[in-house]
Amino acid sequence: MRSDSSLPDHLILREFQFPSDFTQVINLWKNAGPGIQLRRSDEKDEIIKKLQRDPDLFLVAEIDQVIIGSVLGGFDGRRGMVYHLAVDDFYRKRGVGSALMNELENRLKQKGCIRSYLLVTRENINAIRFYETSGWELMDLLIYGKDLDQLSSEY
Ligand SMILES: CC(C)(COP(=O)(O)OP(=O)(O)OC[C@H]1O[C@@H](n2cnc3c(N)ncnc32)[C@H](O)[C@@H]1OP(=O)(O)O)[C@@H](O)C(=O)NCCC(=O)NCCS
Repeated sequence: MRSDSSLPDHLILREFQFPSDFTQVINLWKNAGPGIQLRRSDEKDEIIKKLQRDPDLFLVAEIDQVIIGSVLGGFDGRRGMVYHLAVDDFYRKRGVGSALMNELENRLKQKGCIRSYLLVTRENINAIRFYETSGWELMDLLIYGKDLDQLSSEY
């Protein structure tokens, strides 16, 4: 298990604040590589909608007022979901992703969530290794999606 001493200095984990964090978080996601694809759900109005429930599950990692990591969680009363875990390339492999996930998992547990899911694209080997070393198990299922307003395709 990693010791917290490798975490970058001055690291703070806190809840995402709208609108002040919006641009920084979008830029983090845009620069995070192919594992994060910006979709309609990441537009301002959709983020505002998401924050109407579980605002305490949208977390950012910050160093000296610069956002260097994020994770967006949700709980529907039965299962948790994890979206958009991302750490700025410069700060990867120093425990920031694990710190964000640990905090999110604890918050989900406190809400009574007993099981959570996340989606990873097949070619995102780094994320797959990350999740598999963090206790996440691959599930042998097909994922179905449906656009309920027929406008665009989403995960
Ligand atoms: C996945 C991601 C969030 C991991 O963040 P991180 O801060 O680098 O992760 P950590 O430092 O906490 O890593 C914890 C452990 O995961 C594993 N791990 C993380 N990155 C890895 C990599 N590139 N290759 C192999 N194992 C890796 C290691 O076991 C690591 O522990 P170690 O450094 O002691 O070996 C980061 O790589 C990222 O932002 N990727 C791009 C965005 C993305 O694809 N997100 C996932 C969307 S599903």
